[in-house]
Amino acid sequence: MKTNSTETATGDLEMRERRAKTDIVRDTSGDTENAPQKARNKLQTSKELHRRLAVIDEEIIRVFNSERGEPEILYDTALHLLQAGGKHVRSLITALSCEAVGGTFEEALPYAVATEFVQTASLIHDDVIDDDDKRRGVESTHKKFGTRMAILAGDLLIARAVKLVSQHATPELLDIVATTGVKMCEGEALDILMYVVEPKLLTKESYFEVVRRKTVSFMRGAARTGATIGKATEEQIEILNSYGEQIGYAFQLRDDILDVIASETSTGKTALSDLKGNKTNFVLIHALSESTEEEVNKCTELLKEGKTDFALELIKQSGAVEYTSTLAQEYAGKAKDAIRNKGLLNEDLLFVLADHAGERDF
Ligand code: IPE
Ligand code: IPE
Ligand code: MG
Ligand code: MG
Ligand code: MG
Repeated sequence: MKTNSTETATGDLEMRERRAKTDIVRDTSGDTENAPQKARNKLQTSKELHRRLAVIDEEIIRVFNSERGEPEILYDTALHLLQAGGKHVRSLITALSCEAVGGTFEEALPYAVATEFVQTASLIHDDVIDDDDKRRGVESTHKKFGTRMAILAGDLLIARAVKLVSQHATPELLDIVATTGVKMCEGEALDILMYVVEPKLLTKESYFEVVRRKTVSFMRGAARTGATIGKATEEQIEILNSYGEQIGYAFQLRDDILDVIASETSTGKTALSDLKGNKTNFVLIHALSESTEEEVNKCTELLKEGKTDFALELIKQSGAVEYTSTLAQEYAGKAKDAIRNKGLLNEDLLFVLADHAGERDF
């Protein structure tokens, strides 16, 4: 284990935090209607996470605006979702994983920003794919600017992320970032292929295969990136990889629950999107696995017509939300087990993130 250099890191962080506080419009006070802000408040109950989030927030916008080209509309399109916020879970994983092995927050910051560029790009594209109207409390990018400009804005953000990373990275780090991107594309593609599969034919195995690529690979990659920047040992990299993976499963299971139970106001994104669009959702898969053949067939037919009431009834009677919720918490627990008493710094903050992934309600 490397010796800790948190003193400098903390010093830099405090200075940046002061600057961020004056620059950032979004703060924790007021504007309780703003869904992304509400989403943040939970993570911000940890003062330590709050200050990192404030700096990441400031840096994302500063870096993006530092290289604006033309046409202006392309940049405005990319900025739309970027400035709407987001929970920044993946960039926090990157930063905390770096600090966990003795690296500094400052070293991780460009990667944290690149992570959020890629995350935002993937969501712009995901909303095109899923045809969703709302994201981070605002209109989805393609609804506001049109699909063609949205696709390019996502591409621009990915290119900017590569540019940013290449200014700092070793070939090893570039490979981690690229592999993460490849896996995510594979996962999103598998997800699309499943849209046409009848819900009753979806298995839990195929569900986890999609999630392993579309969500878990990014969380794992975020942890691995941070650990690598912090010059972790092989053993530490494995520990943090596993932490990122388990968080990924918890996070997506929780996301599926929120699609079923939460309102647009609380999540900032389209509600019941999975059920209406026949998209892979663990809650539905579990409910169907607990229902009779007759119920499954009726549910499938009604969902095809866009009617969700019967599916929701089956979900209720099977206790699928509770079941999925327990599973999400189990994964969060596994994430914590992976790092517990391993001599990592900021273990408590890594725990807060894991708990958040398994319990979040936004
Ligand atoms: C949404 O990710 C995509 C999923 C894997 C469920 P987040 O819920 O982390 O989205 P933001 O970045 O906070 O908006
Ligand atoms: C998207 O999964 C995961 C990505 C790789 C972008 P979802 O489609 O479930 O994400 P949301 O619910 O739209 O945020
Ligand atoms: Mg989606
Ligand atoms: Mg999707
Ligand atoms: Mg979802």
